[in-house]
Amino acid sequence: MSDASKKVILFLGATGGCGLSALRRSLAAGHTCIALCRTPRKLLLLLGYSEPSSTSPAPPNPPPPNLHILQGNAHSGSSLLHALTVSGSFSAHLVDIVVTSLGARPTLKGMDDPHVCERGVQALLDALQRLRKDHGLEETSQGVPHIVAVSSTGLSERTRDLPWLMIPMYRLLLGTAHADKRKMEKMLIESGEKFTVVRGSLYAGSGEGKIRVGVEDLVKGVVESTAIGYTISREDVGRWVFEEIVEGEAGKWVGKAATITY
Ligand SMILES: NC(=O)c1ccc[n+]([C@@H]2O[C@H](COP(=O)([O-])OP(=O)(O)OC[C@H]3O[C@@H](n4cnc5c(N)ncnc54)[C@H](OP(=O)(O)O)[C@@H]3O)[C@@H](O)[C@H]2O)c1
Repeated sequence: MSDASKKVILFLGATGGCGLSALRRSLAAGHTCIALCRTPRKLLLLLGYSEPSSTSPAPPNPPPPNLHILQGNAHSGSSLLHALTVSGSFSAHLVDIVVTSLGARPTLKGMDDPHVCERGVQALLDALQRLRKDHGLEETSQGVPHIVAVSSTGLSERTRDLPWLMIPMYRLLLGTAHADKRKMEKMLIESGEKFTVVRGSLYAGSGEGKIRVGVEDLVKGVVESTAIGYTISREDVGRWVFEEIVEGEAGKWVGKAATITY
C-alpha cells in the first residue's frame, strides 16, 4: 500500500549544494526523488553511491529504490516532460513538488549561462502547461506541483533583506545573476502556479545553524516580516526546503518569498 504522506519530488540542480542537501534529506525520509541532471555520475558520487564496475575492485553501493536519476538538461522541454510525469497504474499524474536550484558557473567573462534560472523556469512552466493539456489534468490537484525556486537576497522591491554593508558588493558583483533571478521570480508570480521563492543570504560554511526567516507575500505585494543577516550555508538552504516544504506545512508558503539567514 502506498503511504500518502510520501511525496514525489523533482530536483533540478541537485548536484549543487542546496539541491543536494534537500535531496539527501528527502531520500532518507522515504520520499520518491527524481533528479534531472546533466551528469548523473556526478550526482551518484556526491551522494556516495556507485554502480557495479568491472574496473573497480570496490564493492558497489547502489542508489536506493526511491532515487531516480534522469540524464537531461533542465532547459529541455522533452527532458522535463519525462521528469515531471509519474505514471501510475491507471493514469499519469505530475510530481508533487519541484525544487529548482539551478545556477551558473562563474567564468572570466562573467557567468557561463547568465539566463540559467529564467530559461529553467520558462521551460518548466511550458512543460507543465503541455502535460496538463495532454493528460486532461487542468482541473485537478494532480496537475499542480508546488514549485520551490531557490533565489537570492537583494531582490525585493519592498524591503531591504541585506545588511547595508553588503549592498555595494552585491550591486558590483551580482548584477547579472540578480537580473536572471528577478526574471525567474516575476515569471513565477505571473504564472498563477503554486510556488515558493527561497531567498538565501550569502552562502558560507557547511554546517547547520539557527535559521531566521523573513516573509514577503509576492502575490499580495506585502512584506509580512523581515530577517536581515549576512550568511547561510547551502546545507541549511536545503534543510529549510526539506523541513518547511517537503515535510512541513507547505501551504503556508504558497505565493511567498522566504528570506533565510543566520
Ligand atoms: N553563492 C551564493 O552566495 C548564493 C546566495 C544566494 C543564492 N544563490 C543561488 O542559489 C542557487 C543554488 O546554488 P547552489 O550553490 O546550490 O548550486 P550551484 O553550485 O550554483 O549549482 C547549480 C546547479 O544547477 C545545475 N544546472 C545548471 N544549468 C543546468 C541545466 N541547463 N540543466 C541541468 N542542470 C543545470 C548544475 O548542474 P551541473 O552539475 O551539471 O553543473 C548544478 O546542479 C543558484 O542559483 C545560486 O546563484 C547563491
